[in-house]
Formats: sequence, C-alpha cells, structure tokens
Amino acid sequence: MAPRIIATGSYVPEKIVTNDDLSKCMDTSDEWIRTRTGIAERRIAEGEEKTKLLTLMKGASEQALRMAEERFPGSFGREAVDLIIAATCTPDMAFPAMACRLQAALSMEGTAAFDLSLACTGFVAALNTADAFIQSGRYKTVLVVGGDVMSRMLDWEDRNTAVLFGDGAGAAILSGDPRFGGEGREDRGFVDMVMHADGTGEEALHCRAMYFNEKEPAKEYMDGRRVFEFAVRKVPEVIREVLDKAGKTPADVSLYVLHQANYRILESVAKRLSEPMEKFPHNIARYGNTTAGSIPILLDELCREGRFKEGDLICLAGFGGGLSYGAALLYW
Ligand code: COA
Repeated sequence: MAPRIIATGSYVPEKIVTNDDLSKCMDTSDEWIRTRTGIAERRIAEGEEKTKLLTLMKGASEQALRMAEERFPGSFGREAVDLIIAATCTPDMAFPAMACRLQAALSMEGTAAFDLSLACTGFVAALNTADAFIQSGRYKTVLVVGGDVMSRMLDWEDRNTAVLFGDGAGAAILSGDPRFGGEGREDRGFVDMVMHADGTGEEALHCRAMYFNEKEPAKEYMDGRRVFEFAVRKVPEVIREVLDKAGKTPADVSLYVLHQANYRILESVAKRLSEPMEKFPHNIARYGNTTAGSIPILLDELCREGRFKEGDLICLAGFGGGLSYGAALLYW
C-alpha cells in the first residue's frame, strides 16, 4: 500500500539574524547575500536550543502529531506510530541516536527508532526509507523528522558559507494505515522515489566529525561554485528520472518542493524543466538553508496554507553533501 503524508510540523529557533546583522561581524552585505542567494534572514539557535537539536525536532514532531490527532479525532494517537526516523548531520550526541532521544522526549516508548545521515538530502532519504518499510508491510505509520543546528558547525569567519545556513527542523507523518486514508488508491500517496550519490564529490562539500579534534572545532567547508553547478545539473536530471519512471511529465506536477539552498538554484531548475517559478514555492528568504530541515519546513508551511489539494502531484527533491541527490513523487 502506498503511504500518504497525513500530517506535518515544523520548528525554527526564535532568534532572527538578518543579513545586516552578519555584515556587522564579517565582510559581506545585504545586497550581496540577497542577489546571490535570495536569503534575507535566518534563524539561529542560541541558549538551550544551541545544544539541543532535540528541542527543534521535538517541537516539529509535536506539531505534526497534533495535526494528525486533529485530522483523525479518536482514531489517531501517538501509539499509532511504530517507527521514528530522524535525518540530521548535526546530532546532539554521537549516540544515542536523535530518534531514540526524540522517542523518549515524546513519550513514545515502544516505537522502533534510528537516525539517517545524508546532509541536505537527509529528509528525502528518510522518506524513501519510511516508504519502503511501509510498502513492505513492516511498519504502518512512521514519524520522519529532518533538522539541523548547522550554526554550530559553521566557520563564522568564512563568509562563503556562514551567510547561507540557518537552523530548523520539520516533520512529516507517513502512514499506510487504512484508518488514516492510507489504502493504496492509484491517485494517492507515494508514487516513486529515486536517489543517487557521487562519493567522489567529498572535496566540494564536507564537515569532519565533531569529535575528531577537540582543540579545533569541526567546521563546514564548501566549494560554492562547484556545488552550484552540481545542483543545477543533477536536480533537473533526477526530477526527470522520477517522472519518467512514473510515466509523468514536468507539466503534470502541481508543486515542486525543493531543498532550499539558493533561490538562483530554484530558478535554474525551473528553467531547465521549462516550468514556471510559481510552481516552486520557497521560504529561503526567511530561513536560509536549514539542511535536513528545509524540505519538511517548507512542506509544513504549504500544508498549513492549504496549498496542496487532494490528488495534486507533488515532487520533492533534495541535494547536498555526498554529493547526494534524490527526488520523490507523491499524490497529496
Ligand atoms: N559577501 C560578500 N562577498 C562574498 C561573500 C559574502 N558573503 N561570499 C563570497 N564572496 C565573494 C568571494 O570572496 C568571491 O570574491 P572574489 O571573486 O574576489 O574572490 C566572490 O564573492 C564570489 O563570487 P561568485 O563566485 O561570483 O559567487 P557566486 O555567484 O558563485 O555565489 C554562492 C556564491 C556560494 C552563493 C553560490 O556559489 C552558491 O550558492 N553555491 C551553492 C551553495 C549551496 O547551495 N550549498 C549548499 C548545498 S546543499
């Protein structure tokens, strides 16, 4: 049975850091950042949130659980969830996994739980995994959470990377349970997913593990131009691949929910697919690149705004560290 997304949630830290704020501590400007990336501000975790991605993931998950309870009163409860998958590359600890800590924080003992790490493609990879588990009949309802506190891995002296990222988390509940409308109708739920990686791209985008050298904090490194070129070539390719597999064309898609890394990347992907920008919703201006959080945060905003109509064909695509990239196609 093809699972559906039955609820979404998101959580971003309260603290807003504008481009002007950044230009006070590094050699950059609002004009440079806006024109090159489309970013105006981002949320940065501080205080307790800085040390606890858990706070962000818990906030996003609680919202999603509440939405599911409201949509299916009397039938949906936390006990319906039998697996939690957390996608992140900035976990609070080497172990336990974020998903296990989340399970305890949400009082959802009894579920299976594990993490998955694929940087900005993490959420798509987690969806892919959840979909496969549900389709195999192993699990029925999966809480998928994506989020990162990238600010703790940024080199605040490197204007090339520091201005691009923000912190945040998003969540989605996938279910194949008939009680939540998850039975396999042709025009509902996940249609197909495609994932790829090119491990030789490590030089272009990486961050060594936090525990590697205690004297020198782990910092992200990025070759911006190379990553840009990779994204504008591979994202349209993987979208076409998943569409071809499903016998669909770009025009059949109602909305493209893409990883939010750079507005110009979205424009370029739209152009290469010969699709209008109106089909590419974005929130990069407000949050920057929130790594594994970006797709589920946008998904949640669109869901709450009522932008998805029953039966709409939606395409999700992520890309980033790996160099990894993937796309998913689903009927809302
Ligand atoms: N403020 C001002 N100047 C900056 C700057 C900043 N924050 N960051 C870099 N620059 C400077 C550089 O030092 C360089 O100067 P130089 O030419 O004197 O050496 C110049 O701006 C770079 O310009 P350019 O290469 O034309 O920038 P760009 O148009 O390629 O944009 C990025 C740079 C990083 C915005 C762009 O390459 C990008 O978005 N790449 C993809 C990044 C990404 O999405 N990563 C995450 C993937 S998940």
